[in-house]
Amino acid sequence: MHAFTLLFAGLAAASPMLIERQSSFSTDPNADCGMQPFGFGPPSTTDTNFEQNPAIQFISLAAPAPKNYAAAFRNQTGSSQQAGYQGYYNLMTYNTTQCAGYCNAVSGCTAFNIYFERDPLLNPAAACPNPIATTNIKCSLYSQSVSQATATNQGQYRDQFHVVIAGSDGFNQS
Ligand SMILES: *[C@@H]1O[C@H](CO)[C@@H](O)[C@H](O)[C@H]1NC(C)=O
Ligand SMILES: *[C@@H]1O[C@H](CO)[C@@H](O)[C@H](O)[C@H]1NC(C)=O
Repeated sequence: MHAFTLLFAGLAAASPMLIERQSSFSTDPNADCGMQPFGFGPPSTTDTNFEQNPAIQFISLAAPAPKNYAAAFRNQTGSSQQAGYQGYYNLMTYNTTQCAGYCNAVSGCTAFNIYFERDPLLNPAAACPNPIATTNIKCSLYSQSVSQATATNQGQYRDQFHVVIAGSDGFNQS
């Protein structure tokens, strides 16, 4: 199935639930049930649905290596956790060229990790322990080479919400 078909099928399925399940929220992201950034990756219902999304796997396996970079790993279910972290960007598409551009603009950056992360749309709290999910596309920058061995951050629970990662690719300057 085509990636965009999956994306819009998922959006159509997710939006009625959003209206039904959440009656009030805060616009302060740090407040209980505060709104979080809306991600542009394919939406998911459950953590399993996210981890098994073939569009996520396809995109991560097929993403081109940007100019002057080589892939260190692809299609992992963990993001990099290692020395040399230089911050991250939320992307609108899984665009390895764009992520490399951010790295090239940062002094000392030699590597990046690009991945999909299932995140809550509200800051989980007692009143919203398991909010509707959104999918962020993250581009993390590093001043040291990334490797599959350190792509080990598989997410965590935030209250009852399961943050998980999929389609994680690492690229090093070649
Ligand atoms: C991609 O990762 C998923 C999740 O770990 C796995 O089930 C799938 O077999 C992987 N695909 C390839 C081609 O390695
Ligand atoms: C990816 O990002 C690059 C650099 O920002 C841009 O030139 C290109 O059009 C983008 N590709 C897609 C498919 O959006």
